[in-house]
Amino acid sequence: MLETILLVDDEIANRNAIKRVLRHTGLNFLEAGNGKDALEIVDEIPVDLVLLDIGMPVMDGYKFLERFKSRDCNQEIPVCVMTAWSDNETRKRVIDLGADDFVGKPADRVELETRVKALLRIRGYQKRLLDFNNKLENLVEERTRDLRIAYVHLEESREETMLAYHDTIMRLSLAAEHKDRVTAAHIQRMSHYSELLALKCGWGEEDASLLLEAAKMHDIGKIGIPDAILNKPGKLTSGEFETMKMHCEIGASILSGSDSRLLQMAESVAKSHHERFDGTGYPYGMSGMIIPEVGRIVAIADVFDALMTSRPYKEAWPLEKVCSVMQEDSGKHFDPDLLELFFDDVQVLLKIHNRYSDEETVSMNIEVA
Ligand SMILES: [Fe+2]
Repeated sequence: MLETILLVDDEIANRNAIKRVLRHTGLNFLEAGNGKDALEIVDEIPVDLVLLDIGMPVMDGYKFLERFKSRDCNQEIPVCVMTAWSDNETRKRVIDLGADDFVGKPADRVELETRVKALLRIRGYQKRLLDFNNKLENLVEERTRDLRIAYVHLEESREETMLAYHDTIMRLSLAAEHKDRVTAAHIQRMSHYSELLALKCGWGEEDASLLLEAAKMHDIGKIGIPDAILNKPGKLTSGEFETMKMHCEIGASILSGSDSRLLQMAESVAKSHHERFDGTGYPYGMSGMIIPEVGRIVAIADVFDALMTSRPYKEAWPLEKVCSVMQEDSGKHFDPDLLELFFDDVQVLLKIHNRYSDEETVSMNIEVA
């Protein structure tokens, strides 16, 4: 692309002389007889260099320089002042107004060509730099856009994965409890009570959320217990009860051997949620603080929900009765410190109780399961 040079001089003879000197350089010439016309030209046509006379009618070189350089878009366009006034005051003034170079008048051919070529070379570098910056900005913008789209897709797929993750745990837990006709609402309530108690114990939110999911799988081992025992309407024989007790170890074995913290926690819950604080529970008869904390937490949450809801053989108990019955078991069935924490704000417990309501009758033998 041809470089364009604007000659601003009121003397046509001077402009022609410059064109003769620079003709062989292949430049594109624009001409103006004063500063005002020159400003109108640069408004319409981009130029690469201005050769400027100072003494001109209508608008002189000083005024042109002031107006021209006041626009941001012209800051990088070089202006070479051609003047017979070579005194220091003139030089200082035009430099202050933004001029880049001087050529004496009348111009020496070699000097003029050398100055013009040097200024155009600098202008060329600037244009390439500008072009490179524009390309870089476009590239960054394009990559940012791609990244944003990728992030949205990633976020969508993460949400979908999390949804499937929670749904799978819930369905897996329900599949095991289906035979026992335990409702999804019971699983939701007891797992939320467990999370709440974990938070009260000082657990971090991440670990408490993990327990929320792990607690749902506490009875997953029931999948290995015969229906005849699970659904037996009357009291279990001692042999049947021994079989029923196995759901803890069956569950633990289903969940064992995983690197997942969730499944490791769920294994511990499955194994220990029927242990009792005084050592009379099952399957291992562990006592006190030897029982994993998750087991002590889930034991309270599971029994509380069973007592608070109706069963075929009993109505739902009022909160006061549930509290007093469970308090009687403090230090026997339940960890006394955890039980105290659990009941320190019953309004929160009621909120969870009311949020997940049973639509159907449940049958769960709380004595054995
Ligand atoms: Fe159980």
